[in-house]
Amino acid sequence: MFTPIGRLAFSRPRTLPVLGLVLTAAIFAADLGAPIGSAIGMLYVGVVLLGLWSPQPAFPLVAAYVATVLVLADLYAGWNGQLTLGVIVNYPLMILVFLISAIVVRRFVALEGRAAAHFEQLGDFKRALDASAIVATTDVKGRITYVNDKFLEISGYSREELLGQDHRIINSAYHSPEFIRDLWRTIANGHVWHGEIRNRAKAGHFYWVDTTIVPFVTEEGKPYQYIAIRADVTARKTAEDSLTHQAALARVGQMAAVLAHEVRNPLAGIRGAMQVLLGRRKADDPERAVMQEILARTESLNELIDDLLLFARPRPPRPAEVELTPLLHDVFATVLQDPAGKGVEFEAVGAPLTVLADADLTRATILNLVLNAAQALAGHGRITVFSTPASGGMIEVQVRDTGPGIPLEIREQVFEPFFTTKSRGGGLGLPIAQRTVELHGGSLSVHCPPEGGTVFTLTLPRATGSG
Ligand SMILES: Nc1ncnc2c1ncn2[C@@H]1O[C@H](COP(=O)(O)OP(=O)(O)O)[C@@H](O)[C@H]1O
Ligand SMILES: [Mg+2]
Repeated sequence: MFTPIGRLAFSRPRTLPVLGLVLTAAIFAADLGAPIGSAIGMLYVGVVLLGLWSPQPAFPLVAAYVATVLVLADLYAGWNGQLTLGVIVNYPLMILVFLISAIVVRRFVALEGRAAAHFEQLGDFKRALDASAIVATTDVKGRITYVNDKFLEISGYSREELLGQDHRIINSAYHSPEFIRDLWRTIANGHVWHGEIRNRAKAGHFYWVDTTIVPFVTEEGKPYQYIAIRADVTARKTAEDSLTHQAALARVGQMAAVLAHEVRNPLAGIRGAMQVLLGRRKADDPERAVMQEILARTESLNELIDDLLLFARPRPPRPAEVELTPLLHDVFATVLQDPAGKGVEFEAVGAPLTVLADADLTRATILNLVLNAAQALAGHGRITVFSTPASGGMIEVQVRDTGPGIPLEIREQVFEPFFTTKSRGGGLGLPIAQRTVELHGGSLSVHCPPEGGTVFTLTLPRATGSG
């Protein structure tokens, strides 16, 4: 709580009147001894000034009144009847000074009291805010100057780690540069910004906060500080996301059904006809190459439709005990046959382990990850598959490559259906892989270590009683 500094000096209530009385008596005695017209009486101002520390609002006025009476009594006692200049000027002047200082002291004490009340009220507001919201203040450059306990709680950082940093420390690279620019433009112009932001906690997970940023502006309207007041809305956001995700899946399912009917059948017709035409051409016919290209394109179109169907309507896994080592060697052999596998080194590290999973689906999932890695390596580099037992009866499989990594801006998007950076990519490999492991009760995630490359980590249930 705010304590006016002056009030501390004479905290015991009786000290002040006693001091006032002693001083008054001393001044009166000195004044009596001095010749008429001396300015000793002016010292009574000191007694009036004691009112600065008095809890009694009347103190300075009473002191001024007593001082006036006493200087007049002194004048009466020692006056020889002559109106000297000292008497005409000094006495009214002294009384005027007593009165003015009493008024000034009274006003000052009243102002100080009001300021103290304001500070106390501000303190109450701050306590209420800290109890209910995640609060931080920053300077105009965006450097954090204050964070409350709720901020530490949700972000997982300590106060020392946050103060002096800018908000990039909790940036999740989710929002577009325009979004961030709009935010800054709004608050830099002195306006309040309100919106929902996704942040990243120290441990790496994300949280959503409903955020209001209020600029504190100078008289010229220039911000000198920002206060951000946030509320955790992660639970609501997650629920919304899962609803949107389910709705999107349902739409993909309908689309896949249409594709399966309306595209796949004619496609099979085209392929058949093309094969017939191809069979009629001589071996050295220059048009064979074009026809073969048409066949290859319809083949990959067919694969895309298969993927889409698989993604939209995954078949339920049929779990069995699957040894990882032979499965990995099988995957490596397949990728080596693919053009992407050329010039790539493969390596499986870790003890032989057995998972309880659908053999075909697991193979397809790991093949997907290894193929992606091989494509990212573009002809040179190494792929390491590292398997190890993990907590909760799971096995962790990491597919690591020494490729270029995935830029932070798109790292979150790689699991979205149809997201691809490849000219002939379908963008369904990772979403299918993720859905498959989730159907097994596992998870699939990606990270890019600072030393480079990409690591996809998946977990699958471990077969009980196996290595
Ligand atoms: N190991 C990797 N290294 C770098 N980028 C990768 C890696 N694996 C996946 N990606 C990125 O993720 C995107 C989506 O992958 P995926 O869903 O398999 O679709 P596709 O392979 O058809 O593009 C790829 O286009 C690529 O940009
Ligand atoms: Mg792929």
